[in-house]
Amino acid sequence: MLKFSVFLLFAILAVSASKRPRCLKGPTHKSRATPETDMLECTLYEKSSCCHAHFTKELAQSPVIKVQNTYWNRCGNLSESCESYMKKMECFYRCSPLAAHWADDNYSAGLDSVPICQKFCDGWYEACKNDFTCVNNWLTDWEIDEKGENHCKNECIPYSQMYSNGTDMCETMWGKSLKVSKSTCRCLNLNETDASLLKYIVQDSSSSSSSSSSSSSSSEERACHKKVIKLEQLKEAEEEGLEKE
Ligand SMILES: *[C@@H]1O[C@H](CO)[C@@H](O)[C@H](O)[C@H]1NC(C)=O
Ligand SMILES: *[C@@H]1O[C@H](CO)[C@@H](O)[C@H](O)[C@H]1NC(C)=O
Ligand SMILES: *[C@@H]1O[C@H](CO)[C@@H](O)[C@H](O)[C@H]1NC(C)=O
Ligand SMILES: *[C@@H]1O[C@H](CO)[C@@H](O)[C@H](O)[C@H]1NC(C)=O
Repeated sequence: MLKFSVFLLFAILAVSASKRPRCLKGPTHKSRATPETDMLECTLYEKSSCCHAHFTKELAQSPVIKVQNTYWNRCGNLSESCESYMKKMECFYRCSPLAAHWADDNYSAGLDSVPICQKFCDGWYEACKNDFTCVNNWLTDWEIDEKGENHCKNECIPYSQMYSNGTDMCETMWGKSLKVSKSTCRCLNLNETDASLLKYIVQDSSSSSSSSSSSSSSSEERACHKKVIKLEQLKEAEEEGLEKE
């Protein structure tokens, strides 16, 4: 009897673990997303996180000096506004349980064509345009020394000179990781809304490769916008509730 209940316990544990989202297979990633306590940054993902809380320590300062082996300040400290976008991207890559939906088929530590919102990229560009960088592609353009640390090969120039606009920046800075979405709704903003819209966003990425008709995609678009309105109403109601307390 004891044997049986131990077996049952493990069976239940195994089933609940397999329901947890898988993570990318990068050097800092867990195999599956689990809750974390005491995250200092990336708290958006604390309920279901692919990174360990201690990873966020290096990000929990301003200016950020380096993350793992990569120095962020090779062209001087980033401005706070630019840095906040870089952090969102770093948190998404390292910690988000959603990221593995867009794992690169050939390189499971990498991302391929994450549908990012145009608005997000434009905001990012606006935030960074007066900051300096020496690399066009942050994944491939550094000179890496024997310690694995990054150095500039080229001179530091303003982001506004390195990239022509938000789309160019998003689709170049991390290689093929990000792809600006044609939809204004079925795309990621790297905030709380993403998880609620995932259903519509993932549907879009998978149906774009098959021969889906544009009418089904416009009905998905409508469903997504409806969901956004619902979320906004919910948020308003919650805020009103809080005010009454
Ligand atoms: C960058 O920030 C650090 C820490 O605040 C500061 O010590 C350093 O002087 C700054 N560097 C520049 C070039 O402003
Ligand atoms: C994966 O690599 C193969 C062979 O190099 C290539 O043909 C294919 O396009 C790659 N797939 C992706 C998704 O990059
Ligand atoms: C952004 O820059 C790219 C590359 O230079 C260019 O092809 C594209 O037309 C620009 N988009 C906008 C909206 O200006
Ligand atoms: C997420 O970002 C989008 C675009 O910036 C914004 O419209 C939306 O309100 C944000 N959601 C939350 C919950 O902050």
